[in-house]
Amino acid sequence: MTGEQVQPVIAVDSLTKTYASGFKALNSVNLQIRRGEIFALLGPNGAGKTTLISIICGIVNASSGKVVADGHDIARDYRAARKKIGLVPQELSTDAFETVWDTVKFSRGLFGKAPNDAYLEKVLKDLSLWAKRDSKIMTLSGGMKRRVMIAKALSHEPTILFLDEPTAGVDVELRRDMWDMVRRLRESGVTIILTTHYIEEAEEMADRIGVINKGEILLVEEKTALMQKLGKKQLTLHLQQALASVPAELAGYRLELSEDGNQLVYTFDAQGERMGIPDLLRRLGEHGIHFRDLQTSESSLEDIFVSLVRGNA
Ligand SMILES: Nc1ncnc2c1ncn2[C@@H]1O[C@H](COP(=O)(O)OP(=O)(O)O)[C@@H](O)[C@H]1O
Ligand SMILES: [Mg+2]
Repeated sequence: MTGEQVQPVIAVDSLTKTYASGFKALNSVNLQIRRGEIFALLGPNGAGKTTLISIICGIVNASSGKVVADGHDIARDYRAARKKIGLVPQELSTDAFETVWDTVKFSRGLFGKAPNDAYLEKVLKDLSLWAKRDSKIMTLSGGMKRRVMIAKALSHEPTILFLDEPTAGVDVELRRDMWDMVRRLRESGVTIILTTHYIEEAEEMADRIGVINKGEILLVEEKTALMQKLGKKQLTLHLQQALASVPAELAGYRLELSEDGNQLVYTFDAQGERMGIPDLLRRLGEHGIHFRDLQTSESSLEDIFVSLVRGNA
């Protein structure tokens, strides 16, 4: 046990998947999703994101391991678990000859939920689909079809919503509507798990980010903590003359002297403390500290992602 107080809404335990081809797509994955959070599963193509989601949603069978979704073991108690989950799949797949209204109504019925036209009306209105309710799906644009997929996923009032690569190839308007909807759903208590290979998407939407590559989870962290860690920048000054110690008057700056005294490293926040650099350089000059070269470095989510994925290669 991890000592976490609150029961996770999804607990994935030592999950492994080897496809019939012999390919191991997931290797002993452990993951806990917190109730009410927006969790982004970030990883390159082929990392195993869709496989993981498909197992949790009961579309693909695990080779070994265990998943509990909202208190229900997905293998032993499949129907109860599945009822709690909505899935917007990566690929569009709809019954082209049905109308939008019939599709969502039928989908709700599949999960054994009592009819609730008022709820479905709200879902369609939220997704700007209400005017299209009597249109056959085959007549809709790609963007509208995707909205129907979302409406379908929400038709049975799930408490957990999976969005598999939700914005790959969608236009700006749908993307904005989708994020608005995701935030509203979260406010109403729905847990949202999205997969993406776009770092910006994880950065924009998620409360926590999990990085996956080659079927292994490499890291799970709060986005803000991750960004704080990554938002740091460093200015390295290569000194003309080695220094024995940082002058006491400059103790207010986050300065670190290298072992040999030849380099002075100033660490600052991405935004705020940059302004202090001219001031710092002037004060160093006043103390007779001169440098022959300088360089700055910064870490971004991109950097950490790339280095993690490379280290895992
Ligand atoms: N049915 C299958 N049979 C064999 N290999 C598969 C199958 N489905 C997916 N894979 C492989 O498993 C790996 C993970 O795929 P997937 O879960 O779709 O990754 P992602 O969604 O992160 O892009 C890929 O290398 C993919 O080719
Ligand atoms: Mg995928």
